[in-house]
Amino acid sequence: VTDKEAMDLALKEAKKAKGFVSPNPCVGCVILDKNKKFLSSGFYAHYGAIHAEIMALNKLKNKKLLNQAHLFVTLEPCVHFGQNPPCVESLEKYSWGSITYGIEDPNPQVSGRGIKYLKAKGFLVKKTDFFKLELKRFYEAFALNIKEKRSFFALKTASSLDSVATLNHGESQWITEASSKNISHNLRLSFDAILIGVESFLHDNPRLNIRKEGLEKKNKVVLLDPLGRSLPLLSKSRLLTVRSLKDIYVVSSCREEKLKKSGISFISVPKGEINLKALSYKLYEQKIYSVLVEGGIKTFSYFLKQKASSRLYQIINPSFLGGYRGRYWTENLNVGNLKDKIRLKSLEILKTSPDLFLTGILS
Ligand SMILES: NC(=O)c1ccc[n+]([C@@H]2O[C@H](COP(=O)([O-])OP(=O)(O)OC[C@H]3O[C@@H](n4cnc5c(N)ncnc54)[C@H](OP(=O)(O)O)[C@@H]3O)[C@@H](O)[C@H]2O)c1
Repeated sequence: VTDKEAMDLALKEAKKAKGFVSPNPCVGCVILDKNKKFLSSGFYAHYGAIHAEIMALNKLKNKKLLNQAHLFVTLEPCVHFGQNPPCVESLEKYSWGSITYGIEDPNPQVSGRGIKYLKAKGFLVKKTDFFKLELKRFYEAFALNIKEKRSFFALKTASSLDSVATLNHGESQWITEASSKNISHNLRLSFDAILIGVESFLHDNPRLNIRKEGLEKKNKVVLLDPLGRSLPLLSKSRLLTVRSLKDIYVVSSCREEKLKKSGISFISVPKGEINLKALSYKLYEQKIYSVLVEGGIKTFSYFLKQKASSRLYQIINPSFLGGYRGRYWTENLNVGNLKDKIRLKSLEILKTSPDLFLTGILS
């Protein structure tokens, strides 16, 4: 097994727990013997479970094979007592040939101390040379949560090649190919909530769930609805066929009593344009740590204008719909000078067929 394959495998292990560990990060671990033959693997399976390194160690019955073995872990091993004892103390019992980690733990309680600790014990500790962008992306929500104590926002848009996200009469399902639905459901797995604007709710009456067994009810919903226009319809909406009222968070400047009576969760904001960064702090307080923004068009523009979203995921169908009847997903964005254009950084092409699926950092 090459080092690249080992880190790839560790990432695959980590992803097995997507949707089950929030607010903690997913972690995967792979152990190779001294000749780089596969020995064991493990992952952090759910909130409060044993850590990935410990699972991989526990699965290996013959510990003698660990002599000069190589450990690959997606996140720096921990040095502090949380729900688990420090992983470094379990690791230091063995004579590792090398320990390779994916990314430093952004948690200030760890943040390089795990690496230092293991180096001080004489181990060869190194950062992986592979999957750097993916690893950064994998842990970015956790990093923002832990450093800034606010919720992470990512936009997900689906459009034609000329950026049309819906036709004037509201038809937007499905501009992209049916096979891209899997991408959307997989993305939803990594987020605590899906956010939409009230017009999308009124037009599409969506369910916004994950069509995967056991996870149908995982995602909460955040509805940007300053005037409370959704309220008379919520109890009969499709949102409620897959979740309870308390898992629907209506962000509104309506009178509180009116909303509280309805049984939904309510986030009060001042009248006028909703300040989305301020909202990210309020959502964090409600234990909603990551949010996938799925539209509609005005909502996307508010996020772009306010530079409130950290990342964009874009699914592009190789077709043209034109602006005559179509609405561009950036319709309400008003850039006056080229120097003010919004740039997507660290662009990654994740899939090219039949739709193009790309992602990048917005802010
Ligand atoms: N292709 C895609 O990716 C995609 C995804 C989702 C939806 N869509 C389509 O998009 C269409 C709906 O988009 P839309 O632009 O008409 O409406 P929308 O974005 O769904 O909802 C816009 C409304 O939400 C509220 N809102 C959102 N952000 C706000 C903020 N920061 N501050 C204050 N209010 C905020 C406002 O409500 P008030 O007007 O009550 O103040 C605003 O008018 C539908 O046809 C849907 O099918 C396409």
